[in-house]
Amino acid sequence: MTTFSKGLEGVVAAETETSYIDGTAGILEYVGIPIGELASKSTFEETVFLLWNRRLPTKTELASFTSELRSRYELPEGIAGRIKHLPKDAQPMHMLRTMVSALAMHDPSPNDNTVEAARDKSLNILAQAPSIVACFDRHRRGEEFVKPDPSLSFSENFMYMLNAKKPTPAMARAFDICMITHADHGLNNSTFAARVIISTLSDVYSALTGAIGSLRGPLHGGANEGVMRMLNEIDSVDDAEAYVMGKLERKERIMGFGHRVYKAKDPRATELMALAKQLADDTGNTDLYLKSHAIEEIMEREVASKGIYPNVDFYSATTYHCIGLKLDLFTPMFALSRIAGWAGHVIEQLGDNRLFRPTVNYVGPHDAPYVPIDQR
Ligand SMILES: CC(C)(COP(=O)(O)OP(=O)(O)OC[C@H]1O[C@@H](n2cnc3c(N)ncnc32)[C@H](O)[C@@H]1OP(=O)(O)O)[C@@H](O)C(=O)NCCC(=O)NCCS
Repeated sequence: MTTFSKGLEGVVAAETETSYIDGTAGILEYVGIPIGELASKSTFEETVFLLWNRRLPTKTELASFTSELRSRYELPEGIAGRIKHLPKDAQPMHMLRTMVSALAMHDPSPNDNTVEAARDKSLNILAQAPSIVACFDRHRRGEEFVKPDPSLSFSENFMYMLNAKKPTPAMARAFDICMITHADHGLNNSTFAARVIISTLSDVYSALTGAIGSLRGPLHGGANEGVMRMLNEIDSVDDAEAYVMGKLERKERIMGFGHRVYKAKDPRATELMALAKQLADDTGNTDLYLKSHAIEEIMEREVASKGIYPNVDFYSATTYHCIGLKLDLFTPMFALSRIAGWAGHVIEQLGDNRLFRPTVNYVGPHDAPYVPIDQR
């Protein structure tokens, strides 16, 4: 094998039944169901079941999956105690990566890699990662932790633990739609990282910890924070033109645009754009939405011909801001949702595993002399 594709572009590295992307037509499906259908009709819990079992649940299955998830919201005492000792200025993604890794030490059989055990461990991580983020945010604000409420859904409970106040149904539904739309996306960088790690038969915690490390990069999930910073730098809608043109002239990237796979508008951006507009109007942030929309129009005019369109991160920034989340929690929100997809791929990988081990083209010298250190 001598073919080399920088960044593995176009390389097929696995088979999956979880999500399908047609980057030219702008289509995303989870197990065959279009993302728009799920965003408008499903819940995050049901979407997770779909990704982990590759089929929709019956009523009874969904009820039992949901109640199992809710019964695990509470953090082990050792994890809650550790959070209280973390530096208050720690970055939330570094904190989340570390604490998800720490969960392994509270699992009596962390290395059990049967498919059933992987589902069980994934459920733990899915239930506890939101509690970790909420507790850390309260710790850094000097507030008491809020006990989880198992009568609440995944999205409601996270917002309740974060704010000590139950969210309105509209806010909880908006958050749930964000969770659904970010849940899975083919062999993206962090999902690939998770599959690579589990393929050594390491453990689910290591696979998801590695994936969190990958996600935080500004070229991947970290872009949503970059979008918000950009929106904050643009004073008004009228300044958007000069700002974007200046960046393009300096060959700088506009965060929230472009994608390795999509050469059309990301269908998740279409869903989130509608949500961002609604929330911006409801929360008095119309200007933020209008700035985003103006940037999209300028980018459409300037770079759409190169296949550069808004991606999932572009309108999720406005959405998260309107939900009331702090900027440095945007990427952790992406992680909370993507745990669903990472785990789905880990479960799939374990079901038919083969070690990932590509090759590399060596382009250095051969037969080089070993020069003694005092002669170099
Ligand atoms: C996502 C991303 C990393 C994909 O990168 P990629 O497939 O490796 O594409 P490349 O980096 O090769 O870029 C191809 C061309 O598009 C341009 N381009 C890509 N994304 C761009 C952006 N956001 N703004 C401006 N130009 C962009 C590049 O400058 C390059 O132009 P050139 O051919 O004239 O040099 C890239 O689009 C990007 O950096 N986007 C911003 C970060 C982001 O939003 N990430 C979240 C992804 S969900």
